[in-house]
Amino acid sequence: MQAYLLDFGNFMLRWLHVIAAIAWIGESIYFVMLDNSLRKPKAAEDRDKGVFGEMWAVHGGGFYHNQKYATAPARLPDDLHWSFWKSYTTWLSGFALFVLLYMANPSFYLVNPNASWEWAATMSGWQANVLALLFLVGGWVVYNELCKRISPDMTRDGLLSIAVAVMMVVVAWLSTQLFAGRAAFLITGAVMATAMSANVFFWIIPGQRRMVAAMKAGEAPNPLDGKRGKQRSVHNTYFTLPVVLLMISNHYSFAYSHQQAWVIMSLFIFAGALIRQFFVLMHAGSVKPAYPAAGVALIALAFWIAAPAPSPAADPDRAAVSLEEVHAIMETRCASCHASQPTQPGFNAPPAGVAYDSPQQTAAQRAQIQQVVASGYMPLGNMTGMTDEEREAIAAWSR
Ligand code: HEC
Repeated sequence: MQAYLLDFGNFMLRWLHVIAAIAWIGESIYFVMLDNSLRKPKAAEDRDKGVFGEMWAVHGGGFYHNQKYATAPARLPDDLHWSFWKSYTTWLSGFALFVLLYMANPSFYLVNPNASWEWAATMSGWQANVLALLFLVGGWVVYNELCKRISPDMTRDGLLSIAVAVMMVVVAWLSTQLFAGRAAFLITGAVMATAMSANVFFWIIPGQRRMVAAMKAGEAPNPLDGKRGKQRSVHNTYFTLPVVLLMISNHYSFAYSHQQAWVIMSLFIFAGALIRQFFVLMHAGSVKPAYPAAGVALIALAFWIAAPAPSPAADPDRAAVSLEEVHAIMETRCASCHASQPTQPGFNAPPAGVAYDSPQQTAAQRAQIQQVVASGYMPLGNMTGMTDEEREAIAAWSR
């Protein structure tokens, strides 16, 4: 029942998370497109009103006319549309999912027993949880300091982007040294996603509030607030594609379980940012195919690095109910994939970080083995031809 509740909760949270993310990212991509598509207003009266750019669009059977003011309109409308709940909901539901899926079972999902650093391989579950939280908070603190120190008045944003790119490579590298591969991809994505939401929460929205308050008081808003909001939302736009990729990476162990997972991850992050750059420029009227071409080249490089070495197949065995006998079933039906050195073609690392190399490892994962076997989820596609007798034996295995 508890497993069922967790699964159901996970399912519903994931639904909420994806919907909120679509709404947030969709709106954010829309506003970047709008900003870059603005053209000088045609009508003199619009220019006199302080309109700096406009976009005409047709959508859903209607015609739309967006106008952007250089600073602010002479009079603020009463109902101004604000966007922040989409961002906060995305972050909150994503964090809840992370707690439910990873932090509730850290020794299994966060700790990498094969980590090259001894203390990382042997850290306890709560240490792994604390470390994961440190990544999210620390990632934001470092990123925010980089922004504040390198480009406080938004005049050195180019240099700042290089610093943020280097920071992300460091996060990718460090997370793969400390955590299980699947978690490392997710945590790196979550570091970026946390920075995105924190940008909205700590800078973009408060800046806009100050601007509105100044205008209501009849004062000129501080232009730095507007520029900083723009700087942070530009970062957010380059984070979106990499974040989405890292968030959906959990089934693709060829990437996250690879020895060079941090290189593969970094290549994907840069590929996403380059592809995004193409669309940003395209909406501003300049088509630069070199950007997506460079992105695809990085993806091709990742494909080449992650390609598994060919390996021979495993041999079959028999079934029963003691640990020894269950472990024998694991060796027959599972270990071709779930071993530190898989023999199943197409696998060069244990999928989902799950390995049954020794009876001890099998014993430690009994509840999960019984769950995935009973649900028929494993062996994946029953590729190893597990029999009903074997499934019954595993269900009956009690210690
Ligand atoms: C053909 C390869 C293959 C075989 C054989 C196989 N698995 Fe898996 N297993 C996978 C893959 C791939 C994943 C990752 C799927 C995912 O990310 O959801 C996985 C994931 C898992 C997980 C983690 C599930 C989760 O929620 O992430 C467990 C536990 C597991 N397998 C147990 C088993 C057991 C027990 C057996 C034998 C009865 C088995 N597997 C046989 C490929 C295999």
